[in-house]
Amino acid sequence: MSLNPFLIVAIDGGAASGKSSTARALAERFHFLHADTGSYYRALTAELLHRGVAATDPAAVRAELAELHFGTEVFLSSARLKIHGDKISNADIRSAAVNAAVSHFAALPEVRVTLLAYQRGLADVARKHDFRGLVMEGRDIGSVIFPHADCRFFLHADPVERVRRRAREGQADAVAERDRLDSSRENAPLTCPVGAVAIDSTHLSLPEVVEKLARQIFARLLKA
Ligand code: DC
Repeated sequence: MSLNPFLIVAIDGGAASGKSSTARALAERFHFLHADTGSYYRALTAELLHRGVAATDPAAVRAELAELHFGTEVFLSSARLKIHGDKISNADIRSAAVNAAVSHFAALPEVRVTLLAYQRGLADVARKHDFRGLVMEGRDIGSVIFPHADCRFFLHADPVERVRRRAREGQADAVAERDRLDSSRENAPLTCPVGAVAIDSTHLSLPEVVEKLARQIFARLLKA
């Protein structure tokens, strides 16, 4: 067992499948940096909407993306995307307008390419801040961003339960519609990558889900 193994953990899954709460808990338990990539797509969407750009106009999206400068703020165990040095507020990235538009922007290759290098670069950010690994959650982490991650998980849950979870968070979110758009797009669609461990969280509590993943991460750490 190496003294300082650095692990990359990928968690993919549909909207409200429990990825964020699970990834956050794992980050704390193992002292990993947590990257919620959905929040990056949301922040970019909020910024583009703010600039008056529509997802139906890829040329305008391309032109705006070329103007943007990205940075990272590490706050506790989270890596937050900054655009031109500013964080986009949580209220802004979870707004109804962003909920409705984010899957359309996320389907554009220019948006995905822009975020690909940024997301991969977070492994170095984690190392620089002395984290023992990176736990990244999204839709294409185990398939495209880190296909050779040390552990790859895919969380899923019944759509009715997922709508209930969002409602408990005070949000109206068309999870099934977003999943349909995210799964059917050509670029990096939402999918369970071959070789990933799939977990159905419909009837599991958060601590139960966390425990399942933690056991596998711990086993991988012992082998490192
Ligand atoms: O995880 P979330 O529901 O906050 O993600 C918001 C949207 O971002 C989701 O509908 C699709 C997009 N997304 C993506 O395309 N790829 C990722 N790795 C993460 C999110």
